[in-house]
Amino acid sequence: MQKRDVIIIGAGAAGLMCAISAGSRGKSVTVLDHANKVGKKILMSGGGRCNFTNYYTEPTNFLSENEHFCKSALSRYTQWDFISLVEKHEIPYHEKKLGQLFCDNKAKDIVNMLLDECSDVGADVRTHCSIDKVEKTDKGFLLTSSQGKWQCQSLVIATGALSIPTMGATGFGYDIARQFGLKVLPTRAGLVPFTLTPKLLEDFEGLSGTSADALVSCNGVSFRENILFTHRGLSGPSILQISSYWEPGDAVEINLFPDIDLYQTLKSVQQERPKTHINTVLAETLTKKLADRLTELWFSSYKEKPLAELSNEALQTIATQCQAWQLKPTGTEGYRTAEVTLGGVDTDEVSSKTFEAKKAPGLHFIGEVLDVTGHLGGFNFQWAWASGHACGQEL
Ligand code: FDA
Repeated sequence: MQKRDVIIIGAGAAGLMCAISAGSRGKSVTVLDHANKVGKKILMSGGGRCNFTNYYTEPTNFLSENEHFCKSALSRYTQWDFISLVEKHEIPYHEKKLGQLFCDNKAKDIVNMLLDECSDVGADVRTHCSIDKVEKTDKGFLLTSSQGKWQCQSLVIATGALSIPTMGATGFGYDIARQFGLKVLPTRAGLVPFTLTPKLLEDFEGLSGTSADALVSCNGVSFRENILFTHRGLSGPSILQISSYWEPGDAVEINLFPDIDLYQTLKSVQQERPKTHINTVLAETLTKKLADRLTELWFSSYKEKPLAELSNEALQTIATQCQAWQLKPTGTEGYRTAEVTLGGVDTDEVSSKTFEAKKAPGLHFIGEVLDVTGHLGGFNFQWAWASGHACGQEL
């Protein structure tokens, strides 16, 4: 039987940060992970460069049934705290866009930094360790694992969520929550590409790899960034962002000309260059390939005519179709490619200060296993760092 003050299950972003935080306060800490290496999602994140935080992190960048829950931890460990840690380790980084910070070199720099910090505070990190059983005892918790039995006063669940099962993602955290009588809110894939009907896929065939700057809206929320046509459907940052707000059956509205009033532009071109065709005007903003295809698909009855021959009503129809394109996805690519999982352990069950389960003293939940999900852009890691740090300070 091995005894520790704190055992953390899950050596991902939140678990490693929690180990550093608790270890720095003199607690004996062991982190157990079933995978063959630690921080696999950190390693694969940001195209291998890890978008580790965002300059503009605010509570409004997070989705949760309780929008206030994330505030306390985010204010106690901010993006500036994580940036200081990165700078202390002399890891070169840069802002890519919109406050998103990436490593100049490799995401491995972040994992190595976390492991160095764990080692400095004496936190022991073990891989290849599967947990068979978790029991509550009068001394805390008893764990039965592939590396023997462990006893601890505080148990922290940092096993993340369901996205990318091939990377070791499991529903373990939800099972433990249920075992201790905590409510788990329904989960679904977030930050995930949309799939389309066979008809739409056929319509867009050949556009794979084409992108456009667009304002995408659904359920009262909008994001302005690129959309990307793929051979499976639609992706790109603004699609990934809106997918977290999309429910099956919803349509998304796409404005392909977010900077202009397209009707007024068409009217001006009609006056100034009356012989111009519709695809030519669209191609002044969109790629020629996309402009030609949309003209073919949507405006076939107008495509042979110069603008001079089009009525105001026709110009209005063109503008509305391009600026309020209603698209109904058939679904999403699901957990297989999703960056995050929406839903999870109900935050009402957990203290926002200590992350301890109200019904199970000594048991804590941090990171993505909780019902807190960030937007795209480094916010999910900032939540993992902040919740891990805050919990570690209270163990
Ligand atoms: P995380 O998933 O990091 O760690 C959980 C750990 O628990 C893993 O090591 C796993 O092996 C272990 N585990 C699971 N089940 C277990 C069990 N039964 N027993 C033992 N161990 C178990 N975010 C961001 O801010 N910027 C970015 O650039 C990206 N990029 C990105 C790319 C891709 C492809 C994905 C899938 C995700 C991202 N994300 C992201 C999201 C980000 O990776 C995610 O939100 C955090 O990793 C969540 O941190 P956690 O520590 O909660 O879980």
